[in-house]
Amino acid sequence: MTSLLDELKDYSGKGLYPCHMPGHKRHAFDHIPGDIAKIDLTEVEGADDLHDPSGIILEAERFAALQLGADESFFLINGSTAGILAAISACTDKGGRIVMVRNSHKSAYNAVYLRELDPVYIFPEVMETPCIVEAVRPEEVRKALDENPGVQAVFIVSPTYEGRLADIAAIADIVHERGIPLIVDEAHGAHLSFDEGNPSDAIRRGADIAVQSVHKTLPAPTQTAILSVKGGLVDRKKLRRFLSVYQSSSPSYPLMSMIDGCIRYMADNRDLVPAFKDNFEKLLKRLEVCDKLIFRPFAEELRSGRADYGKLLICTDALGISGVRLAQLLREKYGIETEMTCPGYILAMFTVCDDKEGFERVADALTQLDLDPEICEKAEKAPLGTGLSRHPQRVMLPSKAADSESEEIPLSASEGRICTGMVFIYPPGTPVLAPGERIEKEHTEYILKCISEGFNVKGIGDGCISVVKNG
Ligand SMILES: Cc1ncc(COP(=O)(O)O)c(C=O)c1O
Repeated sequence: MTSLLDELKDYSGKGLYPCHMPGHKRHAFDHIPGDIAKIDLTEVEGADDLHDPSGIILEAERFAALQLGADESFFLINGSTAGILAAISACTDKGGRIVMVRNSHKSAYNAVYLRELDPVYIFPEVMETPCIVEAVRPEEVRKALDENPGVQAVFIVSPTYEGRLADIAAIADIVHERGIPLIVDEAHGAHLSFDEGNPSDAIRRGADIAVQSVHKTLPAPTQTAILSVKGGLVDRKKLRRFLSVYQSSSPSYPLMSMIDGCIRYMADNRDLVPAFKDNFEKLLKRLEVCDKLIFRPFAEELRSGRADYGKLLICTDALGISGVRLAQLLREKYGIETEMTCPGYILAMFTVCDDKEGFERVADALTQLDLDPEICEKAEKAPLGTGLSRHPQRVMLPSKAADSESEEIPLSASEGRICTGMVFIYPPGTPVLAPGERIEKEHTEYILKCISEGFNVKGIGDGCISVVKNG
């Protein structure tokens, strides 16, 4: 079967004069590389239409579905963000009820807002070293469903931003007992579909919808993603409608051809994921000589499927150095830039596109850094965590709180008031407070502590928080 890229090149080679968009008319400019301009078409005869595909795009999507174990796959040119918005919208009625994990991406919260949903949050456990939110457990999903009747869909994240994996098969069974769909935000797990002989992706484990950012862990450009669907629990017509609502009406052909190209490349190179896993395990082995730096995941977590390959968490919590300083040393002394930095840990990310030399370079740097005098043990462990012992109480529908008349007041004076927006620590963005939640002393103290420890707290401007006026 011909790739989308070849089809586009073919079209471009026909010599048809473009009396149509895009405005560059397929000419190269300093700011538009010629190879991109040539294939940057619009929905002309023969080029198909992402929003109602029947030709070359449909063929490419069908090929992807086959590789991903899905009934149907849809290309996303607005990232997983568009897929999550569409998935949640399609699986719920306006004003309906959804169970969702608290560590959901902001697109899930935006879907809740747009569809005026009544969310039931699951707060997964918080791990200690480093202080991150764990993947949701099956019993947590069961409890949420038992205690909350009328739920229309369950939304979870696996792998999480930090690479923690949920037991999708067990969760899917629990969700399906209620006859409702399981949506998995698998933005960080596109590679799981291509693990030769052992694909462990959400669709193959029972999810009804999985949304994967191919750009995050596979060789594909930023903004590219795929939504896959399986089984009869999702209204496909509604799903298509919402995909059209949230995606551009002028989808980029270069991006679509690169999604297709990425899937074909992975299908032709099935040895990539096993080799990548092997390299990651070797990296962990080499890091065992480190005396002070602590790393997650442990090899045993990888083997038991509780953690994903590729996300290396370097914990600095109990050391006389912050994650921010460690990242700076990695950058300045060793020329290594990491994915995410916060006071208690840093996250270094690896994909199938890292070669052996890349893994070795990081291992060399970290083993040398472990001997650096700046990295000394601290008597006292940093006490701050991303967990709150008491979860906020929801007293108003999030959409109602977000749309109500609001006022900005000092955080210190906000006790008892209702929050209109999200307050979260970025990254990864799990909210401390979400719209419609009552602000309590514990929350304000926790937020102030995060600010004083150097965390990047969003949703607080100049020490003020937006609350419902007269609420
Ligand atoms: C867990 C999670 N889900 C979804 C997204 C959104 O993905 P995209 O950037 O492809 O829109 C992100 C982005 O960082 C994410 O971390």
